[in-house]
Amino acid sequence: MPGVKIKAANLEQTAGLAGALAEILRPGMVIALNGDLGAGKTTFTRALARAAGVQAAVTSPTFALLNIYQGARLNFYHFDFYRLNSRDELENSGGQEFIPPPDGIAVIEWAEKIPDILPADYLSIHIAAADGEQRLFSFIFHGNTAYLAARLKNFSADMAASPPQGAGTYPQQSN
Ligand SMILES: Nc1ncnc2c1ncn2[C@@H]1O[C@H](COP(=O)(O)OP(=O)(O)OP(=O)(O)O)[C@@H](O)[C@H]1O
Ligand SMILES: [Mg+2]
Repeated sequence: MPGVKIKAANLEQTAGLAGALAEILRPGMVIALNGDLGAGKTTFTRALARAAGVQAAVTSPTFALLNIYQGARLNFYHFDFYRLNSRDELENSGGQEFIPPPDGIAVIEWAEKIPDILPADYLSIHIAAADGEQRLFSFIFHGNTAYLAARLKNFSADMAASPPQGAGTYPQQSN
């Protein structure tokens, strides 16, 4: 399975990465977001929603299971499976109707808890916290999402060439 790894040195670069991803997402995209408690899943999702044109405040759907936002270009379905125990619970809530979403993108925190809900085509992102604000993002492209790989690699190379002002270290990308 092809993958891309991108290191964000700080919150600003996390937001930059989310912005680059938002630009290339197509309606119907499902993003499975995994990583330890506090790794930065909600923070990354907030930046992605902002970049997709969501103006409302994006809050963690840990208790609600699903928050839906209207974006300028795409609607935004933000799931959190942390408290979910079974696929049945998700189906009873009606949430699975939006996986994949007909008119926007779905981001699922803790997707690994109910892996069989994921469609054939989805982007998996694992976030690992390192020192301070450093985070390592690992992207895996499932099914027909490989077109995102080249775009993300380009973004990573561009970010290395001209890092945001004030960035202490440059992002690195490897395969
Ligand atoms: N580069 C970074 N990217 C993302 N978050 C960062 C970064 N640097 C620091 N942080 C901080 O790490 C924390 C991440 O919290 P967040 O709620 O996003 O994690 P989470 O993975 O959603 O946790 P949970 O599993 O509880 O849902 C926030 O306080 C955020 O400000
Ligand atoms: Mg969260």
